[in-house]
Amino acid sequence: QKERCLEGKKVLITAGPTREKLDPVRYISNFSSGKMGYSLAEAAASLGADVTLISGPVHLHTPVNVRMIQVESAAEMLDETLKHFDNVDIAIMTAAVADYRPIDVASKKLKKKDANLSIQLERTEDILYELGKRKKHQYLVGFAAETDQLEENAKKKLYKKNADCIIANDVLEPGAGFGTDTNVVTLFKRSGEKIPFPKMEKTDLSYRIFEQINKEIREENDE
Ligand code: PMT
Repeated sequence: QKERCLEGKKVLITAGPTREKLDPVRYISNFSSGKMGYSLAEAAASLGADVTLISGPVHLHTPVNVRMIQVESAAEMLDETLKHFDNVDIAIMTAAVADYRPIDVASKKLKKKDANLSIQLERTEDILYELGKRKKHQYLVGFAAETDQLEENAKKKLYKKNADCIIANDVLEPGAGFGTDTNVVTLFKRSGEKIPFPKMEKTDLSYRIFEQINKEIREENDE
């Protein structure tokens, strides 16, 4: 599917992890490499879309013909996402956004003590949930990183966050999830349709995902 089927469409993608600072030298984060989100951005651009990629800190090159916005924290990612959301046709939240951040960020490096250390955390913004509330014409896609009860948890996220579809990966499965070049996902649509994809390169999977999104958008327009 290499035709320019996203010509004229604006696509917003988040990718990578966020970093939540603890002090000037430490942060809380996760293992997202950005590969899934960057592959989606590259595929969207080569299918003719106008692509904005909002990325947490990763070690990947910006795909060609993609507008890149770099952020660190969940709060920054939310701000940038909201700036663009109203004007896009498709938004895909691939980023592994930290769910918690330290309540206090020390201005100087925390010193070691002999006793244990406890850190108080507070919830971060849920970007997908916020977009789900604001959604008008946009086709909104969420991801779900699960370690158990994939289908049940993915469906909960689909409805709670008001997404149009959820792409779920079992991150404990070999060749799936964080850091790998491949992924194994199941796409859950609001219609109840469930599409399992076999293990494949994240680059190839990205085209398959856009094929499904395009089908959905075309069906919506035909109604
Ligand atoms: O980057 P890679 O190494 O290639 O790995 C890919 C991936 C495993 C990160 C990707 O395939 C994936 O599963 N991304 C979603 C990771 C995640 O945070 O899942 P979640 O189930 O916690 O969140 C559900 C959805 O809500 C996601 O779309 C997420 O972007 C969004 N979310 C979550 C928390 C939060 N505070 N704000 C959000 O918007």
